[in-house]
Amino acid sequence: MSFKKLLMGAVYTCALSVASAAGAAELTVGFSQIGSESGWRAAETSVSKIEAEKRGIDLKIADAQQKQENQIKAIRTFIAQGVDAIFLAPVVATGWDEVLEEAKDAEIPVVLLDRTIDSKDDSLYLTAVTSDTVYEGKVAGEYLAKTVGDRDCKILELQGTVGSSPAINRKKGFDEAIAAHPNLKIVRSQTGDFTRTKGKEVMESFIKAENGGKDICAVYAHNDDMQIGAIQALKEAGLKPGKDIIMVSIDAVPDIFKAMAEGEANATVELTPNMAGPAFDAVMAFKKDGTQPPKWIQTESKVYLPDTAAAEYEARKNLGY
Ligand code: AHR
Repeated sequence: MSFKKLLMGAVYTCALSVASAAGAAELTVGFSQIGSESGWRAAETSVSKIEAEKRGIDLKIADAQQKQENQIKAIRTFIAQGVDAIFLAPVVATGWDEVLEEAKDAEIPVVLLDRTIDSKDDSLYLTAVTSDTVYEGKVAGEYLAKTVGDRDCKILELQGTVGSSPAINRKKGFDEAIAAHPNLKIVRSQTGDFTRTKGKEVMESFIKAENGGKDICAVYAHNDDMQIGAIQALKEAGLKPGKDIIMVSIDAVPDIFKAMAEGEANATVELTPNMAGPAFDAVMAFKKDGTQPPKWIQTESKVYLPDTAAAEYEARKNLGY
């Protein structure tokens, strides 16, 4: 490590330990958001605004339109503006070290929201507010194994964005859960990029490749939006998702509860859209007296089944996000 880097590291560490006098009302946070690929993502953006307002924080959101290069540009702009903290929902897991070093050199704490990064240096961010995405995949796989029992089951998998941490981890967790059940086999697996449109398109191609889809036993989608697209494709092909085909996915957005209540989906694993609330609290405590949050602030993952779907839909549909 060069002397300059060593010195910058020491300066940064020192800055971290000194309590800032800044109060909440004086905080400006820049949020590099991925885009609006899913209902869940749109909800996360809305909740971030609500949580910022509650705390009197000035939140600047930059929509990256799914592109890492736009996120890197946004982070550099936030650094130039001298924001008090940066939130980053990283579209993919790799390629962040350089720009996060720049934020660190500028003494701006970075909080990762809902996705993690691949970096050997965890000093590049203050904390990560995320769920356990491997666990989400595992729970989905266990639900399927239990529901299927001993019969043979051909599974179609819709993966999230290639290279993103939830796509990698939700696959890993699911694969691990079904590994103990040789009667369960993923016969097709492809990315639907976490969107409804691509989920539908990919499912249409799966149905064709599977001779009309009569033998499909289950669909595992890495998010609800792709699953809703898949449900449309299956129905248009004359198939019965939720009845003849077991449908399991992740997020717990209102539309999947509607699908479950209508008998077209079977299970979802909840991912809270409130990542910003705990992130603001961590930043405020850090700015106030240097309080170091844990490196991982884990959010809860809960499975929902059709029995509560109608009530959950009613409770969630008018939340405004
Ligand atoms: O990182 C969280 C994932 O990203 C959500 O499950 C998905 O809907 C979103 O786009």
